[in-house]
Amino acid sequence: MATVVLQARGLEKTYRVGEIDIHALRGVDFELSDGEFVVLLGPSGSGKSTLLNILGGLDVPTRGTVHFLDHDLTVANDAALTRYRREHVGFVFQFYNLIPSLTARENVALVTDIADNPMKPEEALALVGLSTRLDHFPSQLSGGEQQRVAIARAIVKRPALLLCDEPTGALDAETGRLVLQAIDRVNRELHTTTAVITHNAPIASMADRVIRLQDGQIGQQTVNATKKRPEELTW
Ligand SMILES: Nc1ncnc2c1ncn2[C@@H]1O[C@H](COP(=O)(O)OP(=O)(O)O)[C@@H](O)[C@H]1O
Ligand SMILES: [Mg+2]
Repeated sequence: MATVVLQARGLEKTYRVGEIDIHALRGVDFELSDGEFVVLLGPSGSGKSTLLNILGGLDVPTRGTVHFLDHDLTVANDAALTRYRREHVGFVFQFYNLIPSLTARENVALVTDIADNPMKPEEALALVGLSTRLDHFPSQLSGGEQQRVAIARAIVKRPALLLCDEPTGALDAETGRLVLQAIDRVNRELHTTTAVITHNAPIASMADRVIRLQDGQIGQQTVNATKKRPEELTW
């Protein structure tokens, strides 16, 4: 049995907006095993980002627990959550949030200053296929290339977890596939436990396991006996 890296039990998240309670998560049980690649699939508003943010220590649940290995994140204070994120979690979002005045290499290098055992920025950029773009500024890169810089930035510190929220959401299918290839390669070569959120069903076939979210609850789960390569996906 593979080690469970992340385990959530009975997660609930309620947002209070004015007089109204919005139940974004209604009792979610979730786990991620070491080295696993999971796709979280669900329509807009189903609670995917809320779940990922809680798993990544960016937000806290209203009820329930999250364990990273044997650390209970739900009793952690702000400083401990910050340390968890800094040491163990790489995030990739729909928008790249690169610093426009820094090159690709410099954007990735920023993170290595605060990491324990980082890769070289050049190594991380090579993993995502950008060895020939080291000294390009974000404005000189396509959207897909910028997203791959963001992936390099997320993984340069060798995090245990890579959490991606709609990483291809702003990209066409062709460039989106290159981004998914980069994520897939990180998962295979660094064994980074990876969760990718999408509302795009075809992307699910590249995962080890697909978890469907609907109205803040987990629905059907599928284990893919054979995974598709990102380059085989069409959408
Ligand atoms: N900060 C917030 N305040 C109030 N409601 C929120 C907030 N964040 C998310 N929600 C609501 O919670 C539900 C789930 O949102 P979200 O997790 O972003 O879904 P998804 O990522 O699947 O689109 C939605 O109804 C959304 O409007
Ligand atoms: Mg979302």
